Amino acid sequence: MTPQPSKRRSTRPSPRPFLKWAGGKRALLPQILGALPEGKFEFYVEPFLGGGAVFLESFRTGRIGRAVLCDRNLELVETWRAVKTAPKTVFELFGQWAQDKESYYAVRALEPAELSPHARAARVIYLNRNGFNGLYRLNRSGGFNVPYGAYTRPQRLDLDNLLAVSHALKSVELVCEDFESVLKAAPAGAVTYCDPPYWPASKTASFRDYDQRGFTGEDQQRLGACFRELGGRGIVGLLSNADVPETRALYAGLEIGTVQCRRSINRDGAKRGMVNELLVRTPTVDGLKTP
Ligand SMILES: C[S@@+](CC[C@H](N)C(=O)[O-])C[C@H]1O[C@@H](n2cnc3c(N)ncnc32)[C@H](O)[C@@H]1O
Repeated sequence: MTPQPSKRRSTRPSPRPFLKWAGGKRALLPQILGALPEGKFEFYVEPFLGGGAVFLESFRTGRIGRAVLCDRNLELVETWRAVKTAPKTVFELFGQWAQDKESYYAVRALEPAELSPHARAARVIYLNRNGFNGLYRLNRSGGFNVPYGAYTRPQRLDLDNLLAVSHALKSVELVCEDFESVLKAAPAGAVTYCDPPYWPASKTASFRDYDQRGFTGEDQQRLGACFRELGGRGIVGLLSNADVPETRALYAGLEIGTVQCRRSINRDGAKRGMVNELLVRTPTVDGLKTP
């Protein structure tokens, strides 16, 4: 008897980001996915993972073959690893804490080094969902210091979504490194989307957004040089950054487009208007179709 393909439709939900990450790309997915090559990415590299919106959407639309996802924030990468290997445990540990102000400060005060890796992941997700604007900010001694977010409705965690994310990560390598090493190791034919901390839009804005080391002007230059080399190595690269004269100069000569998006993370509500961002692409490579 010839086996028949199953007619049962998968009930697994589509994976969505489980973290609200500063600079998250959910709102720009149609433009970003539209600027990436058509068809399946045999090897996908995302060196600035954050909340992983672009990876998850690419997976949802069946475009991911092998993938390397990287971020320099160890707590973040360990959270992704815990969701990959033990989504249910992370969900249950998250559920042990009430979502109110007093509990928030108690969870914030927990010493991560004294928790299990799964409890550390649950704590990161809990602080992200209950802290102000989903910010990730550490003080000089490395302690998380974002104040309580006072949401009117508690931000619940969806187990089915964690299971779907875990499934999406099955054959994915999660690494905690500087972007340069993963971009240098990417093979010919790879596709990469780079979403670094942005060049500050004003002189008073800070580069120090995501960790204590910050992302300096030198890091931007290093990324610019690395990104320029990709095309010559047969790699398709797409990169987001702020639309400022410095980034236009850094990527001059490459294909530069602009997209409009809402700037959501700003303490000053009046400054949360629409801003332009750059989408920079390496030159089209033979054998890979770009739109
Ligand atoms: C703009 S966010 C990425 C947001 C992500 N695209 C999303 O949709 O949520 C930038 C990320 O780069 C990471 N990062 C900062 N410096 C880095 C470095 N030198 N190498 C790798 N990752 C770095 C930060 O920890 C942060 O998570």
